[in-house]
Order: sequence, then structure tokens, then C-alpha cells
Amino acid sequence: MSEKKDVQVVRGLEGIYVATTEISRVDGEQGRLYYRGYDIADLVNNGNFEETAHLLWYGELPNRKEYETLRKHLVNYRFLPDNLLKMLPLLPKGTVPITAIRTFISALAAWDPWAEDNSREAELENAMRLTSGIASLLAKVYRVSIGKPIVEPRLDLNHAANFLYMFNGEEPSPEATQAMDAFLILYADHGFNASTFTARVTASTLSDMYSAVTAALGALKGPLHGGAMEAAMRQFMEIGSPENVDAWFEKAMKEKRRIMGIGHRVYKTMDPRARILKERARALAEKSAEPHWYEIADRLAQKAANHPYFQERRLYPNVDYYGALVAYYLGIPPELDTIMFALSRVTGWTAHVIEQHADNRLIRPRALYVGPDPRPYVPMEERG
Ligand code: SDX
Repeated sequence: MSEKKDVQVVRGLEGIYVATTEISRVDGEQGRLYYRGYDIADLVNNGNFEETAHLLWYGELPNRKEYETLRKHLVNYRFLPDNLLKMLPLLPKGTVPITAIRTFISALAAWDPWAEDNSREAELENAMRLTSGIASLLAKVYRVSIGKPIVEPRLDLNHAANFLYMFNGEEPSPEATQAMDAFLILYADHGFNASTFTARVTASTLSDMYSAVTAALGALKGPLHGGAMEAAMRQFMEIGSPENVDAWFEKAMKEKRRIMGIGHRVYKTMDPRARILKERARALAEKSAEPHWYEIADRLAQKAANHPYFQERRLYPNVDYYGALVAYYLGIPPELDTIMFALSRVTGWTAHVIEQHADNRLIRPRALYVGPDPRPYVPMEERG
């Protein structure tokens, strides 16, 4: 029985505007992305991740004093509580990496005196704590998982370089640092994507920022969202060499397989982030011992671009298609790609929690009931 005949159900809220935001603007038709009015290309070419984080949280690019203050807080929060670090080796070997991060990010709240404080001042501080904390957590969880000694943070490196230093155990090259910095800027926010919307729904109940970020991590894990980066890299590895692309593509089309890293709910032209990451991936590939991964991706993208199926549906490479290559060339194993996505998107999630709490309305949509008509209770003995 349907409750009402005149109700329009929009599955997946496709194309539905449920709130206003001042944080980012996704122009799907023109293929542009703006953070607080700044084009992401300008932020990548002229600034760095710390500047972008300040922009997303405070609404403006920092002046010199604000920038130094932000950096000092981010550096301090690179150090994790000792008792939390003692928990890292307790998870079973082979624990799914994002399960470990989701667990420890949630646990981090227990050591944060402001975790239950939803004021703007406390949440700005917790946004910095979470942004530095998740980067240190990923580096430490990874090194414990491969049996290598934990690398303590350095105070002199910027956020991108310090993460790579803690992760790989050596100071990164300028090119690697710039690629990581660009990656962190480009993945930072993207309107009401599934994980950000999850964070907003959680925040709208006046729950805390740690709960919202933990929930967002759960949403990001899915292969249709943050899981696509890993799926895209594994797809390039399955192809194996540029010579195999044509046959692989034909087989995929025959099997109606989705090509990971292609298509987008909003972009109906090339994702502007993919455009920038493609160049960063090419530059890293040229200096690496494995340039063929970039060649595979580039040839596969061309196959799709020239095929009517993709043309008719306006399916183009999205951020994950080339983000997967940049992460790989930075030494990140594919199984950690979703967490790499989270290292950046935690700034957007926390900015949205602050925006939601600043002018809150509980997010509670309706569902049209189409189940059985009202019916009398039937005792167990009469149930056949
Ligand atoms: C991210 O929302 C965000 O902003 C997300 C994100 C962010 O920054 O937060 O941008 C990050 O999640 C990027 C998307 C990563 N996911 C993937 O790359 C997975 C592969 N892509 C698809 O699954 C798909 O394109 C989505 C999920 C991204 C978008 O899906 P939609 O809008 O729900 O579109 P759809 O599934 O209804 O597809 C429409 C048509 C279908 O064909 P028909 O039914 O018309 O015959 O396009 C086809 C789909 O089969 N299609 C694809 C395809 N993506 C869509 N066919 C082959 N390969 C693909 N990748």
C-alpha cells in the first residue's frame, strides 16, 4: 500500500539540493571546483595544503600570522597519545587498514578534552587534531603492519612532507612533496558527496565531530565512493601492460564491467581534479622505474573517451582515476588508497560539521511506505 500517490521519490537524492553551503562549489557542467570561491587550480599552483585547510575551516586564506599559528597547532597534533599508540599492535595481523584507522580515530576522542564540545572554538581545534592525527595514524599503523619501526614526526617539514617521511621512513623529494600537497588540496572537499553528507547528518543530531568523522569514514569505504581509488589501481594492475589495454577494454565492455575511476554523479565533463592529478601522475611516472602504470591508465582513458557508450553517458575520468596513480607513485600500497582519500577529506568533513553546527536543522527526510496494508496479529500456532 503506498501512503500517498502524489509523492515523488528521488532515489539517491540525485540532483536534490538539501541545504546551502559556503564551503565548496562543484560546477558539473563546466568541470570546475571552487573552495570558498577560489579555483582549486589556483590553490594548487600558488598555495599549499595548510593554506587550503585554513580556507575551508575559517573561510579565508590565512595571513602570515594565522598561517604560522595553524602550522604550530598542526605540528603539535602530529604526536599521538602514548596509550593510543600501545593499542596499535593489538589489532589482529591483516586487519583491513580502514577498519584500523576508523577504530583509532574514534578512540582518539577519549584523549581529547574538547571531544564533546561542539563550540566553534573547540571544533576548529579538533579539526586540526583530526587532520594531523589521521596522517600520523596511517603512517604508524602501516609501519606496524609491515614490521618496520615507527617513525616519529618531524617539526620542520610541512604536512605533506612529514606524512611521507613518517610513512616511507625517509625525507621525500620536492616532486613527491608537491604531488602529495596537490593530492591533499584536491581531495579536501567536494560538496555533499556521500561521506560528507554522512558527516552532516551525524552532526545535525548535535552529535560530536569525532562521531561525524567516524561515520564519514564508514561511508567513504564503499567502492562507489572512496573505495574507487584502490579499485582503479587494481584495475590497472589487472591489465598489467599497455599492450593489454585494448583486449581488456573489449572484454570489459562485453561483460558490462564498470571501469573504476570513470564517471561521476555531478561532473558531466572531465573532473577538474583529474586534470591536475593526471599531470602530477605523468611527472612522477617519468621519474619512476614503473612508468607503464601511467601509460596503461592513459591508454584506457583514451579507449573510453573514443567509445560511444561513454560519450553518450558523458562518462569521464574522475579524481580517483589519476589519484590512484599519484598515490601509487608516492609509495602508497593500493589497500591504503581509501585512507589517503580520508587524509585530505577530513578537512572537508570537519569544515562541514562546523558549518552544520553553526546553523543546525536536524536532517530527517521521509521515506514513502510501500509495504503491506494494516493487518491483524496472527498467533504463532496459526502461522502455517
Ligand atoms: C568519488 O560525489 C562525489 O563528489 C564523490 C567524489 C568526491 O570527491 O567525494 O567525487 C569521489 O567518489 C568519485 C567517484 C568514484 N567512483 C567510481 O569511479 C566508480 C565507478 N563510477 C561509477 O560507479 C559511477 O560513475 C558513479 C558511482 C561515480 C556515479 O554513478 P551514478 O551517477 O549513480 O550513475 P549511474 O550508476 O546511474 O550510471 C549511469 C550510467 C549507467 O548506464 P545505463 O544504466 O545508462 O546503461 O552510466 C553507466 C551506468 O552503467 N556508468 C558506467 C560507469 N559509471 C556509470 N559504465 C561503465 N563504467 C563506469 N565507471
